Amino acid sequence: MRFDILTLFPDMFSSPLRESILGKAVEKGLIQIRTINIRDFTLDKHQVVDDTPYGGGQGMVMKVEPIARAIESVKSQNPSARVVYLTPQGRPFSQDLARSLSTEPHLILLCGRYEGVDERVRQLLIDEEISIGDYVLTGGELAAMVLVDAVSRLIPGVLGCDRSAEEDSFFNFLLEYPQYTRPFNFKGSCVPEVLLSGNHSAISFWRKREALRRTALRRPDLLAKANLSEEDKKFLEEMLGQNRREKARNGV
Ligand SMILES: C[S@@+](CC[C@H](N)C(=O)[O-])C[C@H]1O[C@@H](n2cnc3c(N)ncnc32)[C@H](O)[C@@H]1O
Repeated sequence: MRFDILTLFPDMFSSPLRESILGKAVEKGLIQIRTINIRDFTLDKHQVVDDTPYGGGQGMVMKVEPIARAIESVKSQNPSARVVYLTPQGRPFSQDLARSLSTEPHLILLCGRYEGVDERVRQLLIDEEISIGDYVLTGGELAAMVLVDAVSRLIPGVLGCDRSAEEDSFFNFLLEYPQYTRPFNFKGSCVPEVLLSGNHSAISFWRKREALRRTALRRPDLLAKANLSEEDKKFLEEMLGQNRREKARNGV
């Protein structure tokens, strides 16, 4: 899969996307990440990429022409590349959206700065707008990194055969079960015995129940979309009922 990232600050990407799992995925040729400086697509001596907003007001707005030329330069190599603008006004990013983007062969990611981009960029050049959360960043670069990271790890081979994204939080709309490693006893807090039992079906059963418990207590909104068996539903009902009774007893 190929990512072309259009930005005014290409140096921001040099380390985060070259380390660890993503760095290895690049080395193996599973993903290609290219940064393109939008300023290189200006035609004036001062390489101006922004201007004051029509109608007045605070801040500067990114001009449409350099962005259009930058997008066209990538599209001239691959007209079907999908163009995504990172913006707080976009569709909320999620694991589901990451999964669907991971099937795209080529994404062009546009990072805004200042007050954002001229509206005609949105109208004429963008296929999709994505937000990484209900807060405003100074630029789209960190948002693009989040997207590249979350999408890349879903591409077959990126996580390696010993690690599967299917056990992570949000797969099947459940949070992941608790994880432990050595030592067995840390300041009196011990690892649940079942994890040392070597009984794989008992371990999977415990993990499934803990994932259900954790999701119900921390993110009950996810459960509506989760694929729950009758047994899962019964467990949740009992667990939540017990939880309510305990809270009532403690006057919470
Ligand atoms: C200061 S923001 C502009 C915000 C814009 N004035 C607004 O209110 O929608 C500058 C750039 O940061 C990026 N950005 C900021 N917050 C973001 C978010 N939550 N998700 C994705 N991109 C974001 C966008 O590319 C945006 O163009």
